Amino acid sequence: MKSFPETFIWGTATASYQIEGGAHEEGRGESIWDRFSRQPGKVYQQENGKIACDHYHRYPEDVQLMSELGIKSYRFSFAWPRLFPEEGKFNPEGLNFYKRLLDELEAKGITPTATIYHWDLPTWLQDKGGWTNREIVDHFVTYAKVLFETFGDRIKNWITHNEPWCAAFLGHALGVHAPGHTDWNEALIVSHHLLLSHGKVVELYRSMELNGQIGITLNLSPAVPATNDSMDKDAAWRLDGFANRWFLDPIFKGKYPEDMMDTYSRKFGPLNFLKEGDLGVIGKPIDFLGVNYYSHNSISHNDDDPVFQAKPINETENVTDMGWGIHPESLYHLLKRIQSDYTNLPLYITENGAAFPDEVENGKIEDNDRIRYLHDHFVAAHRFIEEGGNLKGYYVWSLMDNFEWAFGYSKRFGIIYVDYETLERTPKESYKWYQNIIKTNQID
Ligand code: FCB
Repeated sequence: MKSFPETFIWGTATASYQIEGGAHEEGRGESIWDRFSRQPGKVYQQENGKIACDHYHRYPEDVQLMSELGIKSYRFSFAWPRLFPEEGKFNPEGLNFYKRLLDELEAKGITPTATIYHWDLPTWLQDKGGWTNREIVDHFVTYAKVLFETFGDRIKNWITHNEPWCAAFLGHALGVHAPGHTDWNEALIVSHHLLLSHGKVVELYRSMELNGQIGITLNLSPAVPATNDSMDKDAAWRLDGFANRWFLDPIFKGKYPEDMMDTYSRKFGPLNFLKEGDLGVIGKPIDFLGVNYYSHNSISHNDDDPVFQAKPINETENVTDMGWGIHPESLYHLLKRIQSDYTNLPLYITENGAAFPDEVENGKIEDNDRIRYLHDHFVAAHRFIEEGGNLKGYYVWSLMDNFEWAFGYSKRFGIIYVDYETLERTPKESYKWYQNIIKTNQID
């Protein structure tokens, strides 16, 4: 049996657009995901988050399920369009839902961890250029300020952004996430403004002396060379630059990686979105790093790829329902690498989990694949801790099945099953398994 430290934080994670619903409640405005999901061909079966899991109304039941699960902390995100539904308008009613949610969490002794931005940008801001417009940084600070003023005494763990790589590149270069653009130059600008807004909000938080901790969550995906060939190794290094170093370096080293600056400026022209002083802001000390880990990418050199001459190999065996290869050992190596190359700050796995095609049989969901996946990743995390690694907590993605972005409701990541007809929640076997892990604080 492997024991986790007594203070280890077991949790689960969700995001506003993926679970809340309540699309028009208490003055909520429109988000880019409401708009994106109306466009034909963008989201599986043109599904959307209008109702989602109806967490907006069913949160007491959901918090009850969290409490029975035994989690110490719950990671959720705020919906920006609830607070700022239109240009120039602050909607105080949009705070009410979160007050109720926090009441409920506090009553059950569950510590909140809040993400400020998990991709649901108000459309009025998108209409002003969204994250491509540098002015958004000020809007983000205004929004964060309201959250800190309202909840700074109740929420002690803040995450500025969730996975800026996805918001920037899936949203603006690859076009598969809202707002669905396919312009690399835009994506780079967006990545920079996301990081800059992160730094500004860290500065704001410090200035308010709120006595909590603030960090950022990155989706980090090791780029593993497909062979020992130096061409593949170089290709993997480039994709590592794309996925990981482009975010880790400015945050922890106060600069963008030079090889990537070269690549990007050669391909897309001068990086003149980068202004003097920006990197100093982006590199402002944080209190922890949130790591979202799902899989690694096995990379080979490929001349067909116009930007990096590198491509991930499509895995077909031992994959989840997303087609993502299952590689728990890469979680261990990733954590080691963060520690050796970047920081000794506390780390949290802010997301890890797996989609599988779950089915209810006789009222039960026997999701053994998910149990195995979580088990093996917990073991990898334990190994890191055992060797002295500073990993403080682990949030399973996700508490319940939900709107999986472009995949709509077709991918189930939850440890609680949601019947989208009746909205009934049924804990899966993985929930019960996790309950026992939390209770014993051990894994075999
Ligand atoms: C991450 C997102 C999260 C969820 C999982 C499966 O990229 O942060 O919202 O969709 O993937």
